[in-house]
Amino acid sequence: MKQSLRQLGTLLVSGTAAAAAAVASANTASHAYEFNSVAVTGGGYITGILGHPTEKNLLYMRSDVGSSYRWEEALNKWIPLTDFISGEDENLFGTESLAMDPTDPDRLYLAQGRYTTSNNSAFYVSDDRGATFTKYTAPFVMGSNELGRNNGERLAVNPFKPSELLMGTRMAGLMKSSNRAQTWTNVTSFPDAAANGIGLVFVIYDPVHEGTIYVGASVPNGLYYTTDGGSSWATIPDQPTTWDSSILTFPNETQPQSTGPQPMKGVLASNGLLYVTFSDAPGPYGVDYGEAWVYNTSSSTWSNITPSTSNTSPAPYSNQTFPRGGYCGLSVAATDPNTVVIASLDRDPGPALDSIYLSRDAGVSWKDISQLSTPTGSGGYWGHPIDEAALDNGTTVPWLSFNWGPLWSGYGAPSPIVGLTKFGWWMTAVLIDPTDADHLLYGTGATIWATDSLSRADADWAPTWYVQAQGIEETVALAMISPSEGAHLISGFGDINGMRHDDLDLPQPMLGLPVFSNLDTLDWAGQAPNVVVRAGACGHDYGAEGCGQAAYSTDGAHGWRMFPSCIPGVNTSTDNAGVLTVDASGAYFVWSAAATDVDVTLESEYSVVNGSGPYASSDGGQTWTSPSGLTFQTANLASDKVQDKTFYAYDENTWYVSTDGGVTYTASQASSVGLPDNATGSLPVVSVKTAGEVWLALGDEGVYHTTDFGASWKAVSAAASVTAKLITVGAPKSASAPESLFILGQTSDAVTQGVYRSDDGGSSWVRVNDDAHQYGGIELIQGDPRVYSLDYSTSPGTSEPVAWLMIPAGLPVETGKGGSTTEPPLENGGLMRDN
Ligand SMILES: *[C@@H]1O[C@H](CO)[C@@H](O)[C@H](O)[C@H]1NC(C)=O
Ligand SMILES: *[C@@H]1O[C@H](CO)[C@@H](O)[C@H](O)[C@H]1NC(C)=O
Ligand SMILES: *[C@@H]1O[C@H](CO)[C@@H](O)[C@H](O)[C@H]1NC(C)=O
Ligand SMILES: *[C@@H]1O[C@H](CO)[C@@H](O)[C@H](O)[C@H]1NC(C)=O
Ligand SMILES: *[C@@H]1O[C@H](CO)[C@@H](O)[C@H](O)[C@H]1NC(C)=O
Ligand SMILES: *[C@@H]1O[C@H](CO)[C@@H](O)[C@H](O)[C@H]1NC(C)=O
Ligand SMILES: *[C@@H]1O[C@H](CO)[C@@H](O)[C@H](O)[C@H]1NC(C)=O
Ligand SMILES: *[C@@H]1O[C@H](CO)[C@@H](O)[C@H](O)[C@H]1NC(C)=O
Ligand SMILES: *[C@@H]1O[C@H](CO)[C@@H](O)[C@H](O)[C@H]1NC(C)=O
Repeated sequence: MKQSLRQLGTLLVSGTAAAAAAVASANTASHAYEFNSVAVTGGGYITGILGHPTEKNLLYMRSDVGSSYRWEEALNKWIPLTDFISGEDENLFGTESLAMDPTDPDRLYLAQGRYTTSNNSAFYVSDDRGATFTKYTAPFVMGSNELGRNNGERLAVNPFKPSELLMGTRMAGLMKSSNRAQTWTNVTSFPDAAANGIGLVFVIYDPVHEGTIYVGASVPNGLYYTTDGGSSWATIPDQPTTWDSSILTFPNETQPQSTGPQPMKGVLASNGLLYVTFSDAPGPYGVDYGEAWVYNTSSSTWSNITPSTSNTSPAPYSNQTFPRGGYCGLSVAATDPNTVVIASLDRDPGPALDSIYLSRDAGVSWKDISQLSTPTGSGGYWGHPIDEAALDNGTTVPWLSFNWGPLWSGYGAPSPIVGLTKFGWWMTAVLIDPTDADHLLYGTGATIWATDSLSRADADWAPTWYVQAQGIEETVALAMISPSEGAHLISGFGDINGMRHDDLDLPQPMLGLPVFSNLDTLDWAGQAPNVVVRAGACGHDYGAEGCGQAAYSTDGAHGWRMFPSCIPGVNTSTDNAGVLTVDASGAYFVWSAAATDVDVTLESEYSVVNGSGPYASSDGGQTWTSPSGLTFQTANLASDKVQDKTFYAYDENTWYVSTDGGVTYTASQASSVGLPDNATGSLPVVSVKTAGEVWLALGDEGVYHTTDFGASWKAVSAAASVTAKLITVGAPKSASAPESLFILGQTSDAVTQGVYRSDDGGSSWVRVNDDAHQYGGIELIQGDPRVYSLDYSTSPGTSEPVAWLMIPAGLPVETGKGGSTTEPPLENGGLMRDN
């Protein structure tokens, strides 16, 4: 598989390595960089899995803020398709809908746009399965990370006239393109059906009857059809418009949120049966009730095929005391119109979690394959034995255990049954592979599971499952460190805690308890590098056991212990645990409740002004002291990596130094120490080798450097020649050279925002990434203090500096800690390294 990784790397940089190498500077060597992802494998919500109807192994998946991937059978992994999207177009790094041309497998359409509040959405059109794209700005908004993103597909290609596409939009009704998505016009004949922000969630062209099209709107009575190519539309007769009272088993509990079932997904089978899943809310979270129906398009008759006690085996788990959830995920075998799979949605918390059901008789009877796949004795908590959490080649994906940590906000990703990983939640993307009906794939909030033996369920056996998410990297890295000993990279993630990356090519276990729903901050002790600290959001109250929001390790992030107490302002309801640092000796801790937003700016909003400065502890976190000399909580906080008890902060145009473990600070006005006084604040970035040596990335004001603990500062480059949002320090090119610097920014000899490296302390810079590797915007960068020349690929002898780049997060749209009833706070993005 090394071979495959190299092929992927080559593919990613093809045609661009030369550009990366072009800007050669006197003292900073140019390297042809090759980028690969750090293997987490999955890590975020999969919103769609699609297969071409005729072309074997031509599969795509879409995600809400991680854009789209194509399955590459020869490499046995998913390939990212849009890493070229720039930070300016960050909103385009999410796929609202994806369409293939049934008549031409090379043609691909991506409808891109994360938020309807952004006036930036576009179609990416490809003639080569996503190897290259033409971009057309869309005249309407999209919302790939909004409610209803689990439904679909909104975008469809007319099989009789493949230059024509229809798109069900969120706000603009039904739109039509007659020139392969270049321009769009309103289908004004379509009823004003669903101007509710969710809009028209699927469009289906009948591939047999030209001119017949079905559209699902996210409202009760929301199914429409035309038989004249869209000149006139009508609601599909006799569709379910009120709830089947027999499913409202708990009339005194939550009632359906809509007056009738609302369409989620539809599939038109080859025999003319139209399968539709319905729910009372668009999802993926907040759904309480749902139904599944099938419509015979020739007889115009409906059948209710909702799984129930009378048509499901094994028998449904009985003691469910909450609404039973809705239905969304839907797939029909291309080879057998009676073989259909549906998935329940938000049937939780508690036992009898969401199930995937298989029918061989068009929904007359169902097999609960989640239940069949779960070992007995799980008490209704459907799950895969943890040893199934592995790729088909045996590589394990151990973090899927979630360490069997406490549930987040009452429900979340961890299974309460030790030994099982949750069968899934948000299983809205399911696909019976069109060219192999025994191959079922389904997405969850964290990964893609697959089986090649779906038909084992016919005999009441568990299908054999494996993880088929390799290549998909949609994790949000919130924090990274590269200590001088031990693992080269330790990361903190949104939704999935964090990892010690002992092997950058293989998925790793999750950091141990306490498990954070978001791991916001990491640090290590410069002279005791096995001491590692982290803090993050954790809704679980550990009571007298300690502060569940922060932990430290004394063995390089293998074992963890909670701090005995939290600082004021951090507790079980804290969404972001701020910034936690440890001094060079590993014995002094400073913790600020102020949170650094992932989208780091030089604005002061992210410094929470408060009556106390960052709190200090010298007794292992038993007690926290409010310091003197710094009187507010700042996120721009760092520890010296060489000199004990030494901490820095730069905020409100003031430089702060403490040399007594964060108990007292000396403050200097920016202008009195040579700093520009209009840059407000920035995270101090320290040398790993020299006490008192610090850099500040000051945006348009450039990069400043001190070697005397901040008593005096100088710009590293000529005025205005460098702008830098972020800076990080890496190993020097040679023993006598200064530490290498990496910035996220821009140099005067290049027009592009990107990652640049300097080997000579900032006099000269070369670009590290290239236009093919922008990932929708880079938000964090981390150098490796040990390795200037490191080659993670298999070609020995090349000499390449190393930097880890963090790829953007989907910023929070709702608060909450994951699971089905609330939105996970962050999703997707990813963690890339160059190598
Ligand atoms: C299995 O596949 C993964 C992902 O492609 C790869 O990193 C790993 O090296 C493979 N393992 C083996 C034993 O081939
Ligand atoms: C949205 O963008 C288009 C160009 O893509 C521009 O013409 C229009 O004025 C913008 N609208 C707003 C409200 O910014
Ligand atoms: C398109 O037409 C429909 C129906 O007439 C209307 O509801 C909708 O607002 C129109 N959309 C735009 C963008 O004009
Ligand atoms: C349930 O609701 C019905 C009417 O809505 C009411 O008559 C009945 O007392 C309620 N039962 C309980 C246990 O609250
Ligand atoms: C649909 O209805 C027609 C007319 O009643 C019937 O002949 C046909 O078999 C039905 N199709 C399916 C798939 O049940
Ligand atoms: C659920 O029902 C089963 C029998 O179907 C019973 O054995 C079990 O104790 C019940 N569990 C709870 C939590 O009520
Ligand atoms: C947690 O901290 C927040 C912010 O400081 C505070 O408003 C809230 O009351 C605290 N909650 C608890 C349970 O202590
Ligand atoms: C602000 O300071 C007060 C008093 O020291 C403390 O109670 C509170 O928790 C602090 N809030 C934050 C967000 O740090
Ligand atoms: C900030 O101040 C520097 C001088 O210290 C000046 O050169 C620069 O133009 C100022 N920038 C802004 C945005 O005002």
